[in-house]
Amino acid sequence: MKPLKNDTYLRALLRQPTDYTPVWMMRQAGRYLPEYKATRAQAGDFMSLCRNAELACEVTLQPLRRFPLDAAILFSDILTIPDAMGLGLYFETGEGPRFERPVTCAADVARIGVPDPEGELGYVMNAVRTIRRELQGEVPLIGFSGSPWTLATYMVEGGSSKAFTKIKKMMYAEPQTLHLLLDKLADSVISYLNAQVAAGAQSLMIFDTWGGVLTPRDYNDFSLQYMAKIVDGLTRASDGRRVPVTLFTKNGGQWLEAIAATGCDAVGLDWTINIADAKRRVGDKVALQGNMDPSMLYASPERIEQEVAGILEGFGHGPGHVFNLGHGIHLDVEPEHAGAFIESVHRLSRPYHAE
Ligand code: CP3
Repeated sequence: MKPLKNDTYLRALLRQPTDYTPVWMMRQAGRYLPEYKATRAQAGDFMSLCRNAELACEVTLQPLRRFPLDAAILFSDILTIPDAMGLGLYFETGEGPRFERPVTCAADVARIGVPDPEGELGYVMNAVRTIRRELQGEVPLIGFSGSPWTLATYMVEGGSSKAFTKIKKMMYAEPQTLHLLLDKLADSVISYLNAQVAAGAQSLMIFDTWGGVLTPRDYNDFSLQYMAKIVDGLTRASDGRRVPVTLFTKNGGQWLEAIAATGCDAVGLDWTINIADAKRRVGDKVALQGNMDPSMLYASPERIEQEVAGILEGFGHGPGHVFNLGHGIHLDVEPEHAGAFIESVHRLSRPYHAE
């Protein structure tokens, strides 16, 4: 395996000195890129694209051909685990993900097993191996999973939700059923992410997109506790290097100290928190990733640059910042604006890393 040419992203996650602030974009491979739409059309549907290692590799690399990004992220989805558990994932055009067989009761939870990462999920590991080979050491590859709570919301609601009434009903009426589901999901995520590391992932990220809809106590009991179990169970080194783990709870700003205390290496921030405050609170324990509002990419390149400058100034001098959007890039963003964003992070961050 070729040695890593650009390890800026890995160094920043470990709060080691770098020449500039590394940057990647959540959902950097996706529908805002015409070349993505063309490859997806070739694959048929989204899951066929995920299951085809060569095409999944192609769309992973597409944003890197356009922009000098500091990391690649595996092209896949968080819902591969529930799909492998037999729930029957499908995508209704314009509707987002759906499950044919959602989890409704204790008997459904009892039937669920931990999927074999080289069995039902072997297509994901094939994609990781193919991408690592084709990346040729240019930048590190990020592997990922959803958090148990976030995966459970989709499994119990049967798809995307706004009010989360079904899962909250289970949480309050039958907490032990939900805990059993979350525990099976945590075990599944541990074996899935460890298999991604064995296949070549050099950094790991856990997306807790919906932890922020919980009360503080329930966030701890039903989301964070399971992410902490995962952090404990992960392989943290590969090829003689540490494999950093980033936890991202959207809307989780009020719980930063608790998230940092799990033992993760970095915490992802959405845009509802000031990065200077976040650094004051947890910057001596973890690196921070974020935190530009993805809608800012609708603004002019000048306005984008101003926003980048403000976030860099907020974080201030020294290592430990990975620039990113606070959530996924919107599908109708102009690719040129994403390019202007990445270029300004690289250019404007250098003075913050000088001696
Ligand atoms: O480039 C990358 O970031 C890697 C690929 C990636 C996808 N999904 C591809 C995808 C990653 C990291 C994800 C994570 C994911 N998936 C999350 C967590 C992050 C977040 O956004 O909060 C969640 C909640 C999902 C579940 C999911 N998958 C939803 C809600 C949807 C539909 C919404 C949408 O954007 O269409 C998906 C589908 C999906 N996953 C697409 C992509 C590129 C769009 C599918 C298409 O091509 O039509």
